[in-house]
Amino acid sequence: MDPRKAEDLVRRLATAVRGADLYSPTHPLVQRGLDGLLTATREALQTAASVVVGFIDDEIVVDGVRLPRGTAALVGFARDVRDREIEKVTFTRGLTRDEIRQFITVLGDRQSQVPLADQLTARGVRHIELGKVIVEDVTDDQAGIAAAKRVYATAVETAETLWQAAKAGDQPDPGAARKIIDGLARLVSQDRTSLMALTALKKYDNYTFTHMVNVSALAMAQARTLNIDGPLLREFGFAALMHDIGKVNTPLEVLNKPDKLSREEFEIMKRHVVDGAHILRRTPEMPALAPIVAFEHHLKQDLSGYPEKIGSRKLNLCTMIVSIADVFDALRSTRPYRQGLATDRIRNIMGEQGSPAFNQPLLKRFVNLMGLFPVGNLVRLNTEELAVVTAEHPTDPFRPQVKIVADATGACLEEPMLANTWDRDARGEHPRAVIEAVDPESVGIDPLKYM
Ligand SMILES: [Fe+2]
Ligand SMILES: [Fe+2]
Repeated sequence: MDPRKAEDLVRRLATAVRGADLYSPTHPLVQRGLDGLLTATREALQTAASVVVGFIDDEIVVDGVRLPRGTAALVGFARDVRDREIEKVTFTRGLTRDEIRQFITVLGDRQSQVPLADQLTARGVRHIELGKVIVEDVTDDQAGIAAAKRVYATAVETAETLWQAAKAGDQPDPGAARKIIDGLARLVSQDRTSLMALTALKKYDNYTFTHMVNVSALAMAQARTLNIDGPLLREFGFAALMHDIGKVNTPLEVLNKPDKLSREEFEIMKRHVVDGAHILRRTPEMPALAPIVAFEHHLKQDLSGYPEKIGSRKLNLCTMIVSIADVFDALRSTRPYRQGLATDRIRNIMGEQGSPAFNQPLLKRFVNLMGLFPVGNLVRLNTEELAVVTAEHPTDPFRPQVKIVADATGACLEEPMLANTWDRDARGEHPRAVIEAVDPESVGIDPLKYM
């Protein structure tokens, strides 16, 4: 096969997959991607009964012809495909547009647990085959919450050894850190529910280490919603895990002080961001992101926070994700000086801080990720009324529009009433706020009826 045609085919494949990742199936760009891929494969199939696209490490091979080390986009695509355990894709003569459409849809759906090849068979795709799939050696009894617990517990233990090494002035072992990240990354992709449940345990005694693991897990879960996967996902997890490592230099009486820190003490505390960046920069094999995130994680969107006087800079995406995970986990955990807060309190606190503290679109994604107020959810308001979420506020994820369906006594309203929880009364206060999600079964209300 002509190398230029081979490269063209792979490019079209990458474009089509990317389109399906980013847009809905009916979007014109997705349609165009499909047509482009169809044209290229059909052309190749004119001279051969089948075309095989192989992915070997970062290399792409078409019908035995290795493509020149391509652009970053193609290398990224190759890794993405390999990370999803696809080693080769075979197109055979007779291929239809609909089969390509099904193939792209299956690749675009990153939630499904069913092996990709089985999904294709189920959708009646006969002219596209995924080959040499590396099978995960996870047996049934390793799956589920028990397995997740083991991964989590090991991660916390290993986090402690990393911490102790840094505290002793040694270099934290990147190999050990990598093992934590691999375990958590696998859970984030395969069993996010269990992992999120584990991060919600309000541990008291070993906060330092559970905080490291929780922030890593919460950051990777956020990154996955942005379709970040593979090596970059692990770098995010790594940087998140190590964000507070500079605190090994913070005296314990400051670190664990139950009361508010004095000005001097706060100045000492602030040093952990710079110390962390130093420690991570001199640790071999540490991803470049790690010192950046350690340095930036207490900076807000407007660069207030600390370290101070750093000049103008654009915060790294990973930093913005980590600072959401960091504050969320810190507020949720029980500390010597206070109980862990309930999710709705945290939501209010993080939401009220407004735009400078967090990147708002990311915060909104995080709220959705944690399953807070998606449209169609039944919720309880501070007025004890029950309501169905009917629309999100365009910028404030904490204040959706709702339809009130039951009054404070629990009696269903004959005329459900729309209310915007972002509205303020004459005193500038919010008369209504969402407190918590309610299980519709427990109150016998079908929220979908009100949509
Ligand atoms: Fe910190
Ligand atoms: Fe932290």
